[in-house]
Amino acid sequence: MKEIPIKGDEIRNEQLLKWIQESAALCQPDQVYVCGGSEDENRRLCDEMVKTGTFIRLNKEKRPNSFLARSDPRDVARMEGKTYVCSINKSDAGPTNNWVNPAEMKETLIQLFNGCMRGRTMYVIPFSMGPLGSKIAHVGVEITDSPYVVVSMRIMTRMGRPVLNVLGNKGSFVKCMHSVGVPLASGDRDTPWPCNPDKTYIIHFPEERAIYSFGSGYGGNALLGKKCFALRIASVMARDEGWLAEHMLIMGVESPEGEKTYLGAAFPSACGKTNLVMMVPPKGFEGWKVMTIGDDIAWIKADENGVLRAINPEAGFFGVAPGTSMKSNPNAMLTLNRNCIFTNVALTDDGDVWWEGMTDEPPPHLIDWQGLDWTPDCKRLAAHPNARFTAPINQCPTYDPQWDNPEGVPIKAFIFGGRMSKDVPMVYEAFNWSHGVYVAATMGSEATAAAEGQPEMRRDPMAMLPFCGYNMADYWSHWLNIGRQLNDPPRIFKVNWFRRDENGRFMWPGFGENIRILKWIINRARGFGYGVESPMGFMPRLQDICWEGLDFDSATFYKLMSVDREKAKLEATSHEELFDKFFDRLPKEFIHHRELLKSRLWRSSEVWKLERAIF
Ligand code: GTP
Ligand code: SPV
Ligand code: MN
Repeated sequence: MKEIPIKGDEIRNEQLLKWIQESAALCQPDQVYVCGGSEDENRRLCDEMVKTGTFIRLNKEKRPNSFLARSDPRDVARMEGKTYVCSINKSDAGPTNNWVNPAEMKETLIQLFNGCMRGRTMYVIPFSMGPLGSKIAHVGVEITDSPYVVVSMRIMTRMGRPVLNVLGNKGSFVKCMHSVGVPLASGDRDTPWPCNPDKTYIIHFPEERAIYSFGSGYGGNALLGKKCFALRIASVMARDEGWLAEHMLIMGVESPEGEKTYLGAAFPSACGKTNLVMMVPPKGFEGWKVMTIGDDIAWIKADENGVLRAINPEAGFFGVAPGTSMKSNPNAMLTLNRNCIFTNVALTDDGDVWWEGMTDEPPPHLIDWQGLDWTPDCKRLAAHPNARFTAPINQCPTYDPQWDNPEGVPIKAFIFGGRMSKDVPMVYEAFNWSHGVYVAATMGSEATAAAEGQPEMRRDPMAMLPFCGYNMADYWSHWLNIGRQLNDPPRIFKVNWFRRDENGRFMWPGFGENIRILKWIINRARGFGYGVESPMGFMPRLQDICWEGLDFDSATFYKLMSVDREKAKLEATSHEELFDKFFDRLPKEFIHHRELLKSRLWRSSEVWKLERAIF
C-alpha cells in the first residue's frame, strides 16, 4: 500500500497517531494535514477555497476577511432522519433516536468510508470544547476532507496546536470522523460543495464516544464539535459523570446596581437563543446590561459548594441569518462585520451579503443563495431560510470575558421555551425543581427551517429531542437527580415569545422587550418579586412586570398569559401519549405531576377566576 504523507503539526499522542494512520488507510486521501490553527494556515485554506469556487470573497472594505459559501441545494440543514445513536442496547438509545445495531452499522461505515477521500486532503483538527484545561472542558479531534469544515471549526472551537499540547502524549479525545462522501478520480473536477445526499449518515457510538458523519457538509451534520459531540456524545458523558450537556444559551444580566445574574435558556433550533443572548435592553431599561457567554450549548456542572456552573463549549456563533437586522439584533449585525463565513445567504452587487429581514427594502438586484439572478419581484427567497453565519464570539459587543473562565459562571435560573402560536402562556414559574423538569420535558414547539422534515408541531423535551444521545426517560431521571444534589437548585421557568392573535400577528413584541420578562424571572430566582399561583405555576400579574418605557395594552398582556382551561385539560391528558413511549423508564414523579396538574385544572373555573387574575 502506498505511503500517505502526514504534513502540518507533529502528532505525539500515540492513540491519535494510530487513529490517523488507520483512518488514512481506510479513506485513502492523497495526503494528511494536521491543522495547527495559525492565521497563515487559515488564509491559505480560504485562498484555496476561493480558487476552487467553494468560497466567494466578500467586499474587503465592507466585510474584511469574510466569505460566502453556497451549499448544494440538497444539503441545507440538519437531517434528523439520517442521524443515529448506535448504543449497544436499543433501549439505551430510546424511542426518540434512530438506532441500528453498532456492529451492523460499522460494516456499513467501513464500506462508506473505504476510499472516500481519494483525490482529497484528509485534515486533522484537534479542538477543545470549553476553555483549554478547564475541568468542565473536553478535547475532540475531527478528521475531515472538507476545508470548509476546517475553517469553520477554527471559528467555532478552540482549535489547533495548543489543543495538541493539552492532549499530551497520553490524553484521550472524542473521535469525530467526517467525509463529504465524494472521492475524486484523477482528473475529476471538484464541485464547490461536494456532498452525497443519497448516502448521508450521522452516526454516534455513545459507549465508544465516537462519531462518524458521511455525505453532508452542512452545519451540525459536519461541524462535529457542535451537536454530535457537545450534545449527543456529551449528554452521555454527562449522564455517566453527573453533569449536564444542554441545548442552552448562557447569558448574564446586570442590573443598574451592578448585580449580575446568569441564566441558562433552552429553546429549540431557530427559536430565539441567538437573539436573546445579545439583546439590547429597550427604553426604560437604561443601565441594564446583557452579556453573552454562549448562544447554543451549555455544559453545566456542580462545584464543591453545590452551585451549578456553566461553560460554553463553543467559541463561535453558527446563527440563523434571515431575520437578523440592525433593528432585531444589532449586536449580531456588529459581530458580523469581519472574519465571518456566510452560508446560503444572497450576494449583493457590491460584494456584500443580504438576507430576508436584513433591511426593510430589499436591494434591486442580488445573486440568490443558489447563484441565480434575483430581483424583488421574482417570488423566490434570496437567502435560504436556514442560511447561517459563522462568527467568532469575541467579536460580539456583548461578549462576556467570563466566557473563557475555566470555572464557568453560576446559573441562577433555567428557562425553557418553545415556539407556540397558541395556548401556551408567555411566562410562568414551576412550583419546584421536579415540577420544572416535568414542564420542560413536556414542552412543544412548531417546525422551523433548522431541520429537514419536521412535523408541524412536536414535543421537544428540553429542546433536546434531536440532541439527546440516550434514552430520554433516563435523561429526565438524570435531571431530577441533579436537582436533588444541589443546595439551592436554580428556579425553572417556561416562556413563549411566539403567541399569535386571530390575525396571525405576534402578540408580544419580543426581542429587547423580553428583558421585562427576564427581570421578573431574575427577581423570582433571587427570592423576591410577586407572582400568583395558577394551575400551571406561578405567574406575574400586570403589575408584577416592569412596563417602564413601553405602552403595553393590559388586555393584550392578559391574553398573552391566558390559558383556555379546556385546552389545558386536553394538553395535560395528552402528556400520556408522550409518556407511554417510555413506559418502564419514565420517572415515577412525572405520573404524579401530571395528576396534580389535572386536579388543579379540573377545579371549577369560577373558583380560579375569583381567586386569580389570570384564568
Ligand atoms: P439554533 O441556532 O438553530 O439552535 O437556534 P437559535 O435559538 O439560536 O435561533 P435564533 O435566535 O437564530 O432564532 C431566530 C428566529 O427566532 C428568527 O425567526 C427570529 O425572528 C425569531 N425570534 C427571535 N427572538 C424572537 C422574539 O423575541 N420574538 C419573536 N416573535 N421572534 C423571535
Ligand atoms: C440547530 O439546528 O439547533 C443549530 C444549527 O444550532 S446546527 O448546528 O446546524 O445544528
Ligand atoms: Mn442549536
